[in-house]
Amino acid sequence: MRLFSTLVPLIALFTPTLAFYLPGTAPRDYVEYESIDVFVNTLTPMLNSKLRSLISHDYYDERFHFCQPEGGPVKQPESLGSILFGDRILTSPYELRMLENSTCQTLCRSHVPQEDARFINDRIREEYGLNFIIDGLPSSEMKKDSKTGEIFLDAQGFNLGDAETDPNRPALNNHYDIFIQYHARDSRHFRVVGVLVYPRSVDSMIAGEPGPDCFANRQLHLSEATDNEFFYSYSVSFIPSDVPWGLRWDMYLHVFDPKIHWFSLINSLVIVGFLVFMVAMILYRTISKDISRYNAVDLSEEVQEDYGWKLVHGEVFRVPERPMLLSVCVGNGAHLVIMCVVTLIFALFGFLSPSNRGSLATVLLICWTFFGCVSGYTSARTYASIGGDQWKSNLVLTAVLFPVVIFTLIGLLNLFLIGASASGAVPFGTILAILLLWFLISVPLSIAGYFLGMRHGAFTHPVRANPIPRQIPPKPWYLQPIQSAIIGGILPFGAAFVELYFVLSSLFGNRAYYAFGFLFLTFSVVALTTATVSILFVYFTLCAEEYRWHWRAFLIGGGSSFWVFAYGLWYWASRLSLDSFTSVVLYFGYLFLFSLLDFLVGGSIGFIATYFAVRRLYGSIRVD
Ligand SMILES: *[C@@H]1O[C@H](CO)[C@@H](O)[C@H](O)[C@H]1NC(C)=O
Repeated sequence: MRLFSTLVPLIALFTPTLAFYLPGTAPRDYVEYESIDVFVNTLTPMLNSKLRSLISHDYYDERFHFCQPEGGPVKQPESLGSILFGDRILTSPYELRMLENSTCQTLCRSHVPQEDARFINDRIREEYGLNFIIDGLPSSEMKKDSKTGEIFLDAQGFNLGDAETDPNRPALNNHYDIFIQYHARDSRHFRVVGVLVYPRSVDSMIAGEPGPDCFANRQLHLSEATDNEFFYSYSVSFIPSDVPWGLRWDMYLHVFDPKIHWFSLINSLVIVGFLVFMVAMILYRTISKDISRYNAVDLSEEVQEDYGWKLVHGEVFRVPERPMLLSVCVGNGAHLVIMCVVTLIFALFGFLSPSNRGSLATVLLICWTFFGCVSGYTSARTYASIGGDQWKSNLVLTAVLFPVVIFTLIGLLNLFLIGASASGAVPFGTILAILLLWFLISVPLSIAGYFLGMRHGAFTHPVRANPIPRQIPPKPWYLQPIQSAIIGGILPFGAAFVELYFVLSSLFGNRAYYAFGFLFLTFSVVALTTATVSILFVYFTLCAEEYRWHWRAFLIGGGSSFWVFAYGLWYWASRLSLDSFTSVVLYFGYLFLFSLLDFLVGGSIGFIATYFAVRRLYGSIRVD
């Protein structure tokens, strides 16, 4: 059985043809009239033409006055990743029974005072959507791709209300038409294979009548001047479907314009091809010519002055400035690289299917915890190789510096979320769990990795550093550290930005991202580009007799983060129209965090690649 359809050959390439069901995703058979649970998740802003907010709200936030089940809502168990990604899943008062159609059921009578009416109207204007979860499937709307004409299910949620018709008088959707698509396994067993919800606004309250009239022809507008009374109601229809249970997610996994993914990939490959070609030219022509000439001159014992990169052979392995910080950055960057690679491999094997809510975040977190040893090991070997001698401080800083910076940043953003009483705020228990994971597993592993790294020791260098540093001649502007980082960063960023757009859109649009085949290839291409660009720039730098290359290699590798940040600014200006201050702070907080992580990832790739290239380069010449 196939877990995902093979929408694009590339995804097919990486999609296992055998499905394996992870716990919680096993199919469930219902008999006729068996009750089906409806769970409610947080309200999230929808990404239609523009995204207006980044804050999600609890369904049972008292200002909404949604109907509550008898005895109060009950929290459902969730994975750590699901909580981190903002899911808060609770029970609801809806009563659904397999194959039982119903029309105009009253959910409850709701009373909304005027101050909360204003709150609700504002949320309608910000295009908030409701999210139901029925038998593990998100409520969705049926949509048609305007380009390909394909029908797909958009699991962004459904509108809280409608403010588009008249922004001054938003209409609240208080009636939901729920369509459950079911698949009959035999005459007695049925499975849920699709959930569609179409909300409507209907002023169904009629004076003197005890129940609602769901077919009244007026919309419901909440008044901000008086208190409001109205009904919440719903209808349910069960519709037979041919789709078997194993394929039920296919309708949700719609690739918007697969051509663009291909275009992006080809674009990246062209950039990489160009770069690799340039580096190959330089390495195999210039350098081999250099090497044979340097070596030949020495052999003929003619007195000729060295020039170019050979001149600085006595300087390249001099201890760089701030070796401590450099090795900590490289170690933590390598940690993140391994985390990303392993997570992407998991994704390629279909472990991160959207039916496991939050599995992406969970796997990221687990990889991050258990690959703590990578940061220690890399940092130890880097620090020893570049000539640092305070290994104890290095060990401590490697294990704590960046995690503390990142936790602090996330903690501050969390405070903002709590201030806005948003449900995206990470609960205390989860924070504690993550801190324990970090302190009890990640930190010890990092220390163990550090000791192993120290045992393996420093890399040997082909040439020794001269005792007296050389003068550095003036060099062109583009070889200054910051300038070269910004120029060098264009290429990796250029290889990534189309895919980045999709990642951002699905992150903010609350949609499942699953084009992991593309993402994996893009990541590989970007890593290769980063390594090549760093080597290239460092080669130019050494040719200009500037031997302080260590930090340059790291900065150039991380240079794409400048562009990622700039791109985030552009995305904010063009695709978002965030109204509240909290949303803006959150957006820039996350953007900064993302850029910082990108800086570490790119920087460490650049540094490590350049380090081995430089070592190789100077190992190939004869030095007297
Ligand atoms: C329920 O409603 C749907 C659509 O209106 C219809 O196709 C189906 O036959 C109905 N089922 C029953 C048991 O009446």
